Amino acid sequence: MDTNAWIDLLSAAAQLDYIGEPVSQLEHALQTAELARKAHAPDTEVLAALLHDIGHWCDPKAKAMASLGAADHEQLGAQFIRARGLTPEVAELVELHVRAKRYLVARDEAYRARLSAASVATLAYQGGPMNGTEIDDFERHPLMVPALRLRAWDEAAKSAVPAQTTLADYRALFKRCAERPLLEEELQRWSDTGVLVLRGWYDPNEMLALSDITRDLETWPETPGRWMKYFESTPSNPRMLCRLENFIQYAPVFDAVCNGKGIKQVLRALFGEPVVLFKEKINFKLAGAGGFAPHQDAPAFSSFGQNLHVTVMLSIDPTNAANGCLEVGPHPGRGRSLEAKPDLTLTDQVASQIAWEPIETEPGDLVIFDSFLPHRSGPNQTSSSRRALYATYNLASEGDWRTRYYEEKRSTFPPEVERIQGKTYGSSVFNVGNPIRE
Ligand SMILES: [Fe+2]
Ligand SMILES: [Fe+2]
Repeated sequence: MDTNAWIDLLSAAAQLDYIGEPVSQLEHALQTAELARKAHAPDTEVLAALLHDIGHWCDPKAKAMASLGAADHEQLGAQFIRARGLTPEVAELVELHVRAKRYLVARDEAYRARLSAASVATLAYQGGPMNGTEIDDFERHPLMVPALRLRAWDEAAKSAVPAQTTLADYRALFKRCAERPLLEEELQRWSDTGVLVLRGWYDPNEMLALSDITRDLETWPETPGRWMKYFESTPSNPRMLCRLENFIQYAPVFDAVCNGKGIKQVLRALFGEPVVLFKEKINFKLAGAGGFAPHQDAPAFSSFGQNLHVTVMLSIDPTNAANGCLEVGPHPGRGRSLEAKPDLTLTDQVASQIAWEPIETEPGDLVIFDSFLPHRSGPNQTSSSRRALYATYNLASEGDWRTRYYEEKRSTFPPEVERIQGKTYGSSVFNVGNPIRE
C-alpha cells in the first residue's frame, strides 16, 4: 500500500470518535506519534504509535465491542499492517499495545487507578489483567520495553491541546518503514549509474529539527578523546570548522539516522546483504568554505581490507552549484581504481576527461554512491552554510571496523585539539581531497 493510501486511511479517522475520549481517532493517533517523536523513538515506534488503533476503522466489517470500537482491534490492525508491506516490527508493536495495558493493569496499581473510564470498560473485553503465565511471557518478549513506551504515549495522547504535527509530517516515515523501500525503477537506476538519489527521505519538519541539532553540534567544544572536529583555512577565516566526525554516540538523533532500520534496509536491497556503519561525518561547508578535489573513496578506505563501501549523503541544507553540491562522474565499474596522484586524488588528466554531473538536493534528500564512484564538489560561494551528513557503510560480512577506524584516525590524523605541537600530520588515507588543515 503506498503512502497516499495510508494517509487517506488515517485522514478518514478525523471523523471518528476515539471511543469515550474527548479527541478524534486521528487526533489521538497524531498525539501518540508526536509523543514518540519527541522522545526520539526509532522510526518503527513512531509509526506504530501513529497506527496503533487503526484496527478500530481499517475493517468496516469488524465485530464491535458494544459501543467501544472493534473487538480485537490490536489484532485487526496488526494483520492489516502486516499484509501491506511495512516492516514487521510495526505490526508487532501495534499487536502488543493491548497486552501492554493488560500487563500494566496487573503489575501497577497506580496505572490501574489512572485508566480512563473507556479504557476500564474495554479491559473486560480484552481479557482483564494478565495472569502469571501471561506476565512471564510478556516479560520475555523482545519488544516489551518499546511496547510499554508505546502504551505510555497512548495513555497520554488524549489531550484537549491539539497535536502540533499533521499527517503530512509523517509521509516520509512510511517509506523508511517499508519492508521493500525501493521501487523497481530505483533499483534499475542504481545498477545503471551507481548513484541513487532518494528525495524526501525525511520530511521538512523533521529536517528543521535535524538542522537545529546540527547547529548545536557546530558549537560543541573541541574535547580530546571525544567527537573529532577538523578545520580549514579560507581567505577570510584562517580556522573555519570544516568537519565533525565520530559523534553519533553523543548525538542519538544522528545515531538513529545512520543506524535506522530504513537506511539499512535500502542498502541491503542495493547490495543483497546487510551492511554495518563504518564512519560518519558532517561536512559543514560554511559560507566561503573550500571544495573537495576529484577522487574515489576506495583507495582511501583500504585500511581494513574491505573491498567495498557505500556512502549515504543526507542533505541538511539545500545543495546546488553555487554552494558546492556533490558532483559525480560515470561509474568506472566496481573494483576499478582510476589513475591517482600520490595524495590519492585523481590526476588532472583523468579528472578533466570526466563529464561531471552536479546533484542538487533539498533538505531530507539522500544521495547514495559506492566507493568507486568518482566525485568532487566546488567551494561554497554563497553566504549560507551547505551542511551534509555523510554516513559510510561496509558489508557486514567484511567486519565491523568503526571503533578501530577512529582509533587509527586519532593517532594518524587527530583533530587539532589532540595534536602535539611541532609534529606534522601530512596527508594520508585519512585525509583525501578535502580542504582540512594539516
Ligand atoms: Fe488501542
Ligand atoms: Fe490508543
